[in-house]
Amino acid sequence: MNTQPTTALIDKFGRKVEYVRLSVTDRCDFRCVYCMAEDMTFLPRNEILSLEEIYRVAATFVSLGVKKIRLTGGEPLIRRDVLKLVQRLGQLPGLELVLTTNGSQLPHMAQDLKDAGVRRLNISLDSLDSDKFRELTRTGDLQQVLAGIQAAKAAGFKRIKLNAVILKGRNDDEILPLVEFVRAEKLDLTFIEEMPLGVISEHGRQECYMPSDEIRAVIEARYALIPSLHDSGGPARYYDFADSHSRIGFISPHSHNFCGDCNRVRVTVEGRLLLCLGNEHSADLRAVLRSSDDDEILKQAIVKAMDLKPERHYFNLEAEPQIVRFMNMTGG
Ligand code: 5AD
Ligand code: SF4
Repeated sequence: MNTQPTTALIDKFGRKVEYVRLSVTDRCDFRCVYCMAEDMTFLPRNEILSLEEIYRVAATFVSLGVKKIRLTGGEPLIRRDVLKLVQRLGQLPGLELVLTTNGSQLPHMAQDLKDAGVRRLNISLDSLDSDKFRELTRTGDLQQVLAGIQAAKAAGFKRIKLNAVILKGRNDDEILPLVEFVRAEKLDLTFIEEMPLGVISEHGRQECYMPSDEIRAVIEARYALIPSLHDSGGPARYYDFADSHSRIGFISPHSHNFCGDCNRVRVTVEGRLLLCLGNEHSADLRAVLRSSDDDEILKQAIVKAMDLKPERHYFNLEAEPQIVRFMNMTGG
């Protein structure tokens, strides 16, 4: 007898989907060089899901056994009234609600997010040098983000994780300062290899690519890293220090293929359900949402889409990116 509930989300390769990354906006107050072009056109209002529609999608996923939802963007905290959505999602039973942010809005939002039930925060930070930070984000203000990190700590968030994308020749000299910062501030830090998403003219991806192993070597020249048993259920591999609680993670979409145990899908703010970060396979949930108020129909559309989840991604640094959407469209 099949003991799985018929509603569980299981793909053709037997992988169970329990984690959804939901983008709430394609907009951002920053223009990070690896994420966006300088001059971006954002989606018109009628093409993006309303907060109500996003809530319906989230609640339906939870009814299908999803245990964790991450709100992403663009920058999720610049969407108007996003806190109202967060407060509703925070009430969904059994859901672990987490959020990825660039930190710029945390000085005034951290406490409300904590009170609304957000469990953990990932904060993107690629440099601790104001000028370099400005160059990488084009519009960002480092002091604002640092104040945001302090606000998150003061609000009681635990195990706050910083995410850093290291580009050779641009911020590879920030690896150790970032490591020292998280050790001093009792934070965690994950290094993400740049992924070829969207065509960006400003920097050559190949020249800038810094594999995780090289980053790890820079750290290990100074601190011993102990492979950690910690498993976040995601693609990162973790290391501990002997003398600090901070954890260092590496996400290596190029140098380590992690597709075999992939448990996640993404929903763009247009309501496109993306089955894989590195492939275009998708289902249009917006059309389903707007054609009927019946959540059962939405449920069936999501279950059916699981069959589209491809076995793995192929990223190739030499070729032009095959994925034409930018990260802000994909949802971090
Ligand atoms: N490759 C890798 N990481 C990226 N991010 C944005 N664009 C890319 C890319 N092309 C990162 C941000 C942030 C997280 C949500 O995704 O720096 O930390
Ligand atoms: Fe904004 Fe994040 Fe993209 Fe930077 S990486 S432009 S902070 S969405």
